[in-house]
Amino acid sequence: MRWPPCACSREIHVGADRARGVIIRARWPEAAGRAAQTYAGQIQTVYLDPPFDTGKPYFLRLPVGETGWRKGKPMVELPAYDDRWTDGGYEEMIRAAIQTAHAMLKPEGALFLHIDPRRGPLARRLLDEVFGAGNYVNEIVWAYETGGRATGHFSRKHDTLLFYRRSDRLYFDIAAAAMPRARRHNHMRRGVDEQGRAYSAINSGGKEYRYYDDEPVYASDVWTDIAPLQQRDPRRTGFDTQKPSALLARVIGCASRPGDWAADLFAGSGTTARTAADMDRNFVSMDASDASVVTTRKRMLGCSFELDAPSRVPDGTECPALDAAIHVEGGVLNAALAGYDIGKAGVCPPDGLAHVDQWSFGIIRGGVFHAYANAARDRRSPALPDTLSFGEGPPGGEPAIAVVDILGRRIVFRGPSIGGRL
Ligand SMILES: C[S@@+](CC[C@H](N)C(=O)[O-])C[C@H]1O[C@@H](n2cnc3c(N)ncnc32)[C@H](O)[C@@H]1O
Repeated sequence: MRWPPCACSREIHVGADRARGVIIRARWPEAAGRAAQTYAGQIQTVYLDPPFDTGKPYFLRLPVGETGWRKGKPMVELPAYDDRWTDGGYEEMIRAAIQTAHAMLKPEGALFLHIDPRRGPLARRLLDEVFGAGNYVNEIVWAYETGGRATGHFSRKHDTLLFYRRSDRLYFDIAAAAMPRARRHNHMRRGVDEQGRAYSAINSGGKEYRYYDDEPVYASDVWTDIAPLQQRDPRRTGFDTQKPSALLARVIGCASRPGDWAADLFAGSGTTARTAADMDRNFVSMDASDASVVTTRKRMLGCSFELDAPSRVPDGTECPALDAAIHVEGGVLNAALAGYDIGKAGVCPPDGLAHVDQWSFGIIRGGVFHAYANAARDRRSPALPDTLSFGEGPPGGEPAIAVVDILGRRIVFRGPSIGGRL
């Protein structure tokens, strides 16, 4: 049976993971006032990875159907964000995000702004202006070896993370940046102590300094131990400019404790939200792009979160169609998805659920979609389950299915009434 699309202002997801959070579609500078007010003084760590003003567009690449996920083809390329700016627009956008981050942070909080060396000086000036030069903590160099080599100049092989504190009450735990001590072949003397622990030692000023092999070393402000994601890395979401979780784990680990809130105002693929949740932190994930919202949604499906962005209601030029059935059995609601037609000629021929990337089954109450069961494709599970179930939730509402299709659209379809059970 065909289900009609309907309007939903928000989504509420109920997941088993301990972390919780929000995913919000927000564009800077427009959303700055509201975000600053809503989260004033509540956030422990903010990570900002804004566009770098590269003059290029960026994309989300989604494989189509099970075959696409297994073989890498076919694939659709959706616009994610455009990094081309008008005069002054770039600076205004970055300044608004920095001001919002400053308002959101707790007194113990920290901000990490990820930028490239070309735009670094502008970011540094704005950070000094908003946070105060006295709250500058570090300029971290994240160095990597990937990509091609230049011949007309030295190859550009690092980004910077500008680390500022909100106040002198900063919380910071260097132990979270512990690394195994690499044994260097240098001029130090090798030895083994009475307990059998190996060390390197050096004498200076009449004193012996020992460096035990089993003692960790702590990261300095030059990070060379975190690799960017390779093209074929299975953790890739398809969102250009995705950062590695290890980078965020170091930032979040050093600058927050479990139960704290971490925010990202340029969420992209949702790396901060995913890493924060994996480390038992809660998350606020904001971004202007629909491609970011659906990619982050997919990465967070195990968590409880609120998605604050209206779903798409297709107009006359688009006619996606959902074919599904529901039945109730022993207090459990079951939905079976029979087909989804993307309603656009030329994308690729309709083929069962091939055009569906994620789907959720739940209930609409008061214009809000409550998702109780979810399925999504990824490299590990490219086949999409065609049935979902959940035990009856609180009474009231209508059954509904939210689909995220391979055009990146999130559409909520209203189901048939099921005999007054909801
Ligand atoms: C470099 S990407 C972030 C990548 C992310 N760190 C990750 O790991 O996937 C920059 C993000 O900024 C977002 N963005 C660009 N302009 C924006 C604006 N004016 N307001 C909010 N977000 C914006 C883009 O949609 C994009 O997702």
